[in-house]
Amino acid sequence: MKHILSSDQFTKEDLEEIFKLTDDIKNNPKKYANSLNDKIIAVMFYEPSTRTRLSFETAALKLGAKIITTENAKEFSSAIKGETIQDTVRIIAGYADAMVIRHSSDTSAEEAASVNKIPILNAGAGKGEHPTQALLDLYTIRNKKGKIDGVKVAILGDLLYGRTIHSLIKLLSLYDNVEIYGLSKKAFELPEKYIEMLKERGIEYKKCNSFDELPRDLDVIYHTRIQSERFEGDYGKEEFIINKKVLDTFSKDTILLHPLPRVIEISTDVDDDPRACYFEQAHNGLYVRMALLLQVFDRA
Ligand code: CP
Repeated sequence: MKHILSSDQFTKEDLEEIFKLTDDIKNNPKKYANSLNDKIIAVMFYEPSTRTRLSFETAALKLGAKIITTENAKEFSSAIKGETIQDTVRIIAGYADAMVIRHSSDTSAEEAASVNKIPILNAGAGKGEHPTQALLDLYTIRNKKGKIDGVKVAILGDLLYGRTIHSLIKLLSLYDNVEIYGLSKKAFELPEKYIEMLKERGIEYKKCNSFDELPRDLDVIYHTRIQSERFEGDYGKEEFIINKKVLDTFSKDTILLHPLPRVIEISTDVDDDPRACYFEQAHNGLYVRMALLLQVFDRA
């Protein structure tokens, strides 16, 4: 049974297969319109979402599948009565053919998959991983830059709790000659285990303290929101804000990505700059998630 749980599960070849399928879906959507006519997808979000949930639901509908869902699984499912994720999956497996899950626990997707009755797709697990986001991020980099090998990427914002960051750097580490630069407030630095992982895979992680320390010829600036829902206390606001003045200090070929939602870390004055690709990036999520649904059902 194929699950989508972590960026750790992919090889470079797997990624190229997903990206080629995504390209084909984008170019020939009608070809796939009935591919999952006989499938029902359960969408269980225990945390808020705009993009991931609605793009997964749209992806399922565009493939001909039907959806069952609950508005706010944290409160409106029997989780509030103490039901475990595993028992929830055992029950849903009697209704649906796959389940998409977002949950505050880092291990939620693995717990759901441990039942091994239906494919599980991790739509964001605590501060751990968000692999489908990383796939759409990398797909966007590949398409905008025409390559992934050799890219210079700066990761900004919440490197501690940012699950999209954790999943993305795992995927980037599969490629050759990638350079990763980190810029965040002290309280939100990348955990040592990820720096070690990058080192083991031959990537030197370069921690920076200011915009000035980042190379001007970066291929990608990937900013993220401080994940204030993951901690108590006040660590203040984001210090490293990208506005037009800051963006203009970088190359005209440096693209600006963000998993969204943004709060203050990217000013709206850059939205119309051709380098600002975050809305296109979010839109790519629809096609990448269509590809993933096809793959888990072996209908690619
Ligand atoms: N990028 C992302 O996960 O957005 P949502 O929280 O809106 O799903």
